[in-house]
Amino acid sequence: MALLNILKYPDERLHTVAKPVAEIDDRIKTLTKDMLETMYEARGIGLAATQVDVHERVVVMDLSEEQNEPRVFINPIITHKNGETTYEEGCLSVPGIYDTVTRAEQVTVEAFNEEGEKFTLEADGLLAICIQHELDHLAGKVFVEYLSALKQNRIKTKLKKRAKHNL
Ligand code: NI
Repeated sequence: MALLNILKYPDERLHTVAKPVAEIDDRIKTLTKDMLETMYEARGIGLAATQVDVHERVVVMDLSEEQNEPRVFINPIITHKNGETTYEEGCLSVPGIYDTVTRAEQVTVEAFNEEGEKFTLEADGLLAICIQHELDHLAGKVFVEYLSALKQNRIKTKLKKRAKHNL
């Protein structure tokens, strides 16, 4: 396994739209393992392949307290959305920044696991929020893009300054 480099906002590569995975082979299995390791190391609860500069539809998540319930979503599609909820979100690509985003309260997602098995998941709560956040990454969207232009500019300035000083 290997730790992968996580792209940081406002890196343009975060705006790349991911392509569907053509075949769930050893390369994809290794990618999901490396993404999980990278996510755990960074103390995140979700990571999209886009964030590690791989532009294919792969997402990993683990919302458990013990970080022992990994979830893998390959070629995920949200087929149903219901209700509305707000949550203060953060992102491994936007370190140290948290802000409130409005999303659907419940989602149904269809995806494949790393064994190539198709599954359907009905999610609510944090899981539903996380799924929407990660699928946004695959579409080239970062959560801060839901915020006002003023806030986005402040965040860009802050993160660029931080990157420059290597903080
Ligand atoms: Ni994120």
